[in-house]
Amino acid sequence: MDKRPVGVFDSGLGGLTVVKEIKRVLPGESIVYLGDTARVPYGTRSKKTVEEFSLQNINFLLRKKVKCVVVACNTASAQAYRKIRKKSSVTTFDVIVPAVKAATKNGQPKVIGVIGTRGTIKSGAYKRKIQKVGPNFKVFELTCPLFVPLIEEGELRGELIRLCVDKYLIPLRKKKIDTLILGCTHYPLIKTVIEKRIGPKVKIIDSGKEVTKELFAYLTKKQMLAPENNKPRDEYFVTDLTQRFIKVAEMFLGESLKRKIKEVSVN
Ligand code: DGL
Repeated sequence: MDKRPVGVFDSGLGGLTVVKEIKRVLPGESIVYLGDTARVPYGTRSKKTVEEFSLQNINFLLRKKVKCVVVACNTASAQAYRKIRKKSSVTTFDVIVPAVKAATKNGQPKVIGVIGTRGTIKSGAYKRKIQKVGPNFKVFELTCPLFVPLIEEGELRGELIRLCVDKYLIPLRKKKIDTLILGCTHYPLIKTVIEKRIGPKVKIIDSGKEVTKELFAYLTKKQMLAPENNKPRDEYFVTDLTQRFIKVAEMFLGESLKRKIKEVSVN
């Protein structure tokens, strides 16, 4: 049994979708969350910068004595994970490997679509990992740069997001994909719209859900789950705090966060 918190970081607040899932599956665990809101987005930045920011984030979480770290950000997972793992004295989880595992289950050749930020897609991390499992798997990767700002503005349903989903997903539909990986923290919030527009035959993989399964399996195997009677104490940190950030954070997490979020500096 291990009462130490689970550390989670993201470029901003989207990683709270992953926290929400961790809290659903592992309600006894305490969470320390860091959202780098002062420097979001990571999706448009260079690999070098994403690495530098990610290492600062991991150092902050290690100072908080976490028992392991979930890199909720797909862009950081795609561009900085090797550096993060080297630097970290505790076990770290990226969001890409678990999603790839889920997408390639059964080993049957598939046609897989991956959507994410420019940084994630440019890195080719998903495609590389999928084709390592099965060289016959067809992979179509696509950046969807308008999704993050629209979701942050609360456009989760309605005409605007539907148009945007169609703009990006029609080309993928034409490729006859049978699996679609949501390779960004924000996309689970528009999963229903995506499901409707891409059609019922396409299996949708949510990387946050998949990494939570890995985390659960790891903590169970290592006997590191929090004790059953543990009263979780969650802490939320951001590198820049505004009223709007609090509203967006509540939308992602689905619970009130007033007075719970603190501003910190990580560099
Ligand atoms: N958290 C990022 C991701 O999952 C999306 C936002 C950003 O570009 O920083 O890729």
